[in-house]
Amino acid sequence: MAARLETERLRLRRFGTGDVELLVLLDSDPAVMRFLTGQPTPRAEIERVILPGILQVYAEHPGLGTFAAEEKVGGAFVGWFGMQPTDDPATVGVGYRLVRAAWGKGYATEGTKALIAHAFALGMERVVADTMAVNHRSRAVMRRSGLRFLKVYHEHFDDPLPGTEFGEVLYGTDRRTWEAGTHE
Ligand SMILES: CC(C)(COP(=O)(O)OP(=O)(O)OC[C@H]1O[C@@H](n2cnc3c(N)ncnc32)[C@H](O)[C@@H]1OP(=O)(O)O)[C@@H](O)C(=O)NCCC(=O)NCCS
Repeated sequence: MAARLETERLRLRRFGTGDVELLVLLDSDPAVMRFLTGQPTPRAEIERVILPGILQVYAEHPGLGTFAAEEKVGGAFVGWFGMQPTDDPATVGVGYRLVRAAWGKGYATEGTKALIAHAFALGMERVVADTMAVNHRSRAVMRRSGLRFLKVYHEHFDDPLPGTEFGEVLYGTDRRTWEAGTHE
């Protein structure tokens, strides 16, 4: 994606080296992390692994990556939206993580629709998203954003989160379906 992208209510920008606090704030809420790791992410991991990893994707995959989202009015940080490379260069994976205060406002769907449109504008052929089957809020975002349910699959985890037994779900759409407007 370009360094910035705007939706009706949000401004998306690249993270920078000074954004550790935003990521610590986001990942310190157990409710936010419930279906991810199940626990807050230690600050040291954000400093040494998470943020450097985000910056590395910008460098290696121009146009893609994880982007900080802020309210246009007031500038409050609401979380991030991601558009990640996959094994297939014509497919990107989208994702989102919002601070709890930003839930229930339609921001996740608004940002995800913008990312999907942008992925196709970049020339991608397919957009996918995955989550735990029991993460119903996330699945609702996928549906409202125009992604369609594709399959349930099971992965092995050494320390599985509650609900892992119901599997992971994959949603997606392709350029033709998206352009046909069936996401409206
Ligand atoms: C997943 C997550 C982003 C979903 O957030 P969300 O707020 O439920 O989703 P949206 O932003 O699309 O908001 C939809 C809700 O806002 C409401 N809403 C209020 N104002 C709205 C508006 N102007 N436009 C659209 N919806 C609006 C909708 O009615 C809906 O409410 P409901 O959930 O009671 O039905 C959020 O729960 C989260 O960050 N979770 C932690 C991280 C995570 O699990 N990420 C996914 C891992 S794959």
